[in-house]
Amino acid sequence: MLLEIRDLTHRFGGLQALTNINCVLEQGDIAGLIGPNGAGKTTVFNLVSGFYTPTQGDIILKGTRINGRKPHEIAAMKVGRTFQNIRLWSDMTVLDNICISQHYRLGYNAADVFFHTGRYRVREKVIRESARALLDSFRLGSLAEEYPKNLPYGVQRRVEIARALSLQPELLMLDEPAAGLSTADTKDLIDYVNWIHEQFHLTIWMIEHQMEVIMKLCRTIQVIDFGREIARGSPEEIQHNPDVIKAYLGDGTI
Ligand SMILES: Nc1ncnc2c1ncn2[C@@H]1O[C@H](COP(=O)(O)OP(=O)(O)O)[C@@H](O)[C@H]1O
Ligand SMILES: [Mg+2]
Repeated sequence: MLLEIRDLTHRFGGLQALTNINCVLEQGDIAGLIGPNGAGKTTVFNLVSGFYTPTQGDIILKGTRINGRKPHEIAAMKVGRTFQNIRLWSDMTVLDNICISQHYRLGYNAADVFFHTGRYRVREKVIRESARALLDSFRLGSLAEEYPKNLPYGVQRRVEIARALSLQPELLMLDEPAAGLSTADTKDLIDYVNWIHEQFHLTIWMIEHQMEVIMKLCRTIQVIDFGREIARGSPEEIQHNPDVIKAYLGDGTI
């Protein structure tokens, strides 16, 4: 078992955002987390990736309880993620965006960076070469010197996913990767995620509103509404589940 969540409960002040959420991800799964806006999906991801500490419950990653660990500690345990609103450094090139996350992984300290020690220079070279290779493997090599702010949204998404993969995660969490994408870009994204899953033998956990993406990619789906699980099952089961249909009525996305 890669990740287990037991009775995860979270409150923001007086707001009960999550109540007793349970989930298990096995190595190699592609699992979906869906639900109407405000259901608590991103909060689940923020708890698992260390941005918040849960009010109650357990988050167990590869047998270790990780409640309260910091985001960089969890990233070091090979958990990568993307954000609902793309978070790239828009004033750095695509290549530098990939490199900066590598710096942490390879263990610099501030003195190395400041004094440009031999250790820093050797590693810097290794990092830049591996970042270039990574971009090439994602067919993003020609964009290495571009600035994300000048790139189409769909390409920025791919850069953000490539950056998450540069940390060689075992678990990749994607928060609404298809949000804001055109129909053509959405189809590309589906192929891209499938390719990543096969290529890197990853476990992928994704939040997504576009049902085409969820139905084509996910083997299992968990549905939450008002912070509680209302259904879980295969895409087929979820599509025909009356509670799910009711939760989405008026939303138009299922
Ligand atoms: N940092 C926060 N502080 C207070 N309330 C929050 C915070 N983050 C999310 N919420 C609230 O928690 C609920 C769940 O939000 P979220 O997890 O973002 O939902 P989803 O991703 O399913 O749309 C919402 O009511 C939202 O307003
Ligand atoms: Mg969200």
